[in-house]
Amino acid sequence: MWRSHLARSLHQHRNQPEARFLQLATIGLDQRPRNRTVVFRGFLENSDRLKIVTDNRSQKVAQIVANPYAEINWYFPKTRSQFRILGKLILINQESADVELQSARKAAWQSLSEPARIQFSWAHPREAKSIDSLEITPPDLNQPLDSFSLLLLEPIEIDRLELRGAPQNRWLYLRDAQGDWTEQEVNP
Ligand SMILES: Cc1cc2nc3c(=O)[nH]c(=O)nc-3n(C[C@H](O)[C@H](O)[C@H](O)COP(=O)(O)O)c2cc1C
Repeated sequence: MWRSHLARSLHQHRNQPEARFLQLATIGLDQRPRNRTVVFRGFLENSDRLKIVTDNRSQKVAQIVANPYAEINWYFPKTRSQFRILGKLILINQESADVELQSARKAAWQSLSEPARIQFSWAHPREAKSIDSLEITPPDLNQPLDSFSLLLLEPIEIDRLELRGAPQNRWLYLRDAQGDWTEQEVNP
């Protein structure tokens, strides 16, 4: 299954924090693509959902509300593997009513470093730069700021390319209506 291959790549890069940076593409409100780097924060317990944290006020959040489809692209140099994960993003902000997901949001807030938490009290992202925008008071560990959201990417389709070998190797993983995965080896 794709999860074991991804786990292997992550393990091989366990001493390289930058291996947890991945590219997250969404659809802009103008239907044009938007892409940015984010940090992988692990999987939600007992699920295939990838955790990402972000600022509620960032452009991606409005894009996700309008269209939850997104694709991750993730390349691991040591294993020479690329994972393209198509899925739907689930937004968990201060208004989300689901108790379990709300507690996952709080846990994600608590597991951030303090400098990372402080960023959520900065001035509104992408607005004209203001001189007093750099708040440095540490926010409450037990109360995520309203600007803090947890994003969960629920995978639908995975395209795994292994550069090692001639020819290269490529697999598609598709999730069926029951939530089970099927695997197919394809031409690279
Ligand atoms: C190495 C790196 C890691 C980043 N990690 C995150 C992250 O985890 N979450 C996030 O929202 N933005 C992260 N960013 C910033 C985004 O790339 C982006 O600039 C920001 O989220 C605003 O994007 P948007 O306007 O498309 O919403 C990171 C940037 C870099 C360079």
